[in-house]
Amino acid sequence: MIIELSNLRGWTSRKRTKYMAKLKGKVAVVTGASKGIGAAIAEKLGSEGAKVVVNYARDKAGADRVANKIKQSGSEAVSVQADVSKAEDIKKLFAETAAAFGGVDILVNNAGVYEFRPLEALDEAHYHKIFDLNVLGLLLTTKEAVAHMNGQGGSIINVSSIAAKTPAVNSSVYSATKGAVDVISRALALELAPRKIRVNSLSPGATDTEGVHALPEYKNGFEQMAVTRTPLGRMGTAEDIAKAALFLASEDSGWITGEELLVGGGIRL
Ligand SMILES: NC(=O)c1ccc[n+]([C@@H]2O[C@H](COP(=O)([O-])OP(=O)(O)OC[C@H]3O[C@@H](n4cnc5c(N)ncnc54)[C@H](OP(=O)(O)O)[C@@H]3O)[C@@H](O)[C@H]2O)c1
Repeated sequence: MIIELSNLRGWTSRKRTKYMAKLKGKVAVVTGASKGIGAAIAEKLGSEGAKVVVNYARDKAGADRVANKIKQSGSEAVSVQADVSKAEDIKKLFAETAAAFGGVDILVNNAGVYEFRPLEALDEAHYHKIFDLNVLGLLLTTKEAVAHMNGQGGSIINVSSIAAKTPAVNSSVYSATKGAVDVISRALALELAPRKIRVNSLSPGATDTEGVHALPEYKNGFEQMAVTRTPLGRMGTAEDIAKAALFLASEDSGWITGEELLVGGGIRL
């Protein structure tokens, strides 16, 4: 009998999702999941049995691709458009989540913008573009997610950055948003602990994504600079970050809250 290898692989991953999954029965919302780190996290959580809400701002095709991959792995997924820097859109995101899957167990605050400017080029528009999504949006999304959690605890993962620890040149505003994310994680970990909701920061080092490739700095030696600073000698992949997100989402990290997990091949300074 000839069994086509690709069919066998699909069957194996579906069987795994059904019987051995770490997140079976959980509902996860991943913001900014149409590409990059968010897409990899959404797929990873889905492959472990979570029902996943794949949020996106503009890239519907990307989000639909991610949702379809999750369905192929044997779980459920929906893609939902919402600009998570806006309170009204955030409400819509969780209304659609409730309609599709009911309550929320896992929130990954991944959506974020990065843009680097020297001090003399700073203005209010630059500040608000980055802070309104990376900080205000994260807080409002968390508020709404917690209101939809079902009283049995939960896990919130805030995607921060190595930039909060070792800011790159011209990154004062972006790095400040990620410093804020780390403090917010610690503060909310305390506040939400009585409800058994864990809150942790996940801080990628330089990671190869569409967003990084689109940076003007990418053409000016960004990758070389990042690799030089990384003891393990390469840029991270979105999959590297997704594996750590799965750890923080699952019971494997059930005794961990208020922590910052740096995932960057040893990058520190
Ligand atoms: N890549 C790195 O080296 C690195 C390092 C440290 C930390 N991080 C952090 O990791 C996160 C993801 O970075 P990435 O490199 O994967 O980014 P990316 O490739 O640029 O992807 C960004 C994602 O966020 C979504 N998004 C943007 N604005 C949004 C909004 N207002 N509402 C909802 N979704 C929105 C995008 O959706 P659409 O495509 O639909 O617009 C896209 O799915 C960010 O928080 C970033 O700060 C990245």
